[in-house]
Amino acid sequence: MALSLPDQPTASLSELSTGSAPSDPNNDLRPTNAELAAHVLAGLTRQPRALSSMYFYDAVGSELFQQIMALPEYYPTRTEFALLTRHRAAIAAALTSADGQPLHLLELGAGDGLKTKILLRELLAAGTDFAYAPVDISPTALEGLATSLRAELPALRVEPLVAEYTAALAGLRGQPGRKAVLFLGSNIGNFLPEARQQFLAALAAQLGPDDRLLVGFDLRKDPRQIRAAYDDAQGVTAAFNLNLLTRLNRELQADFDLAAWEHFADYDPLTGAMRSFLVSRQAQHVRIGALERTFTFEAWEAIHTENSYKFTLPQIEALAADAGLRVLTAFQDEQQWFADVLLAPLR
Ligand code: AVJ
Repeated sequence: MALSLPDQPTASLSELSTGSAPSDPNNDLRPTNAELAAHVLAGLTRQPRALSSMYFYDAVGSELFQQIMALPEYYPTRTEFALLTRHRAAIAAALTSADGQPLHLLELGAGDGLKTKILLRELLAAGTDFAYAPVDISPTALEGLATSLRAELPALRVEPLVAEYTAALAGLRGQPGRKAVLFLGSNIGNFLPEARQQFLAALAAQLGPDDRLLVGFDLRKDPRQIRAAYDDAQGVTAAFNLNLLTRLNRELQADFDLAAWEHFADYDPLTGAMRSFLVSRQAQHVRIGALERTFTFEAWEAIHTENSYKFTLPQIEALAADAGLRVLTAFQDEQQWFADVLLAPLR
């Protein structure tokens, strides 16, 4: 697998989508420990140290992210929810073709799908012939979504897939009819600039002239507001970040002392980089059994664990053009904190 770090949601974890982890029947939908182990070895061997935020989303991490979305400081989810409510008719119309071709609606990083349900309801009400294929790396989040969709929207055709983004994209080419890809929630903010560019270009390459892409971008705003969203007063985001170490303790037989680490989050208004770190409060050694290695950390040494980039509209225009896409409409909320950008192939 590609080990460039941090935050490479496109790195291949093929086993995840096949639903097999024979070593542990209780966790049959999660990535093999071998892949996690390889990632951690690479991430803790390089300087500065870094681990991918992709690994936040075990069962506990997915539950903590649900709590984050409800925090007063974490504005992105409720802002995008309001945006989609406001523009649902226009967005649903833009995703549907005039000639009534069936629509294949793929969502990357669907999570609990709460925001997407606004669009799904709109499409169903319009009598659109479509299937919904939510993709997520969290089996628990995806199972919850499939269950709630069966109950709330029984008429909907749902084809859930536990996979990483790249694996899901590979299956897109063969789909007949019109395709629309949703990539909401500012998940695109997790990519470093180069990986972001490459990912969008790879996505664009899978699209035909009539296909559409809707990408959620968190926009630049008061730096204090952004920073507070990733360092909440209740400490839920801290627990979310620290849970990565708990996961390594469990899945890689590591002995991280949770009390010796703290969450730190900082926003750079020049680059739009919101970054999260796990900081070692003291000089310490950590044994990782599965790697048969001991790692030494200096006092106040940091592991970079997440990027959550914030964007400007001109930057989004440039990003799209570089990826072979054009901006059709940038849908925004009333406060202009967030944008769901409708994109089409350049030609
Ligand atoms: C799910 C990637 C959009 O970066 O804002 C929330 C994850 N991390 N708080 C984000 C997250 C810390 C979130 N995304």
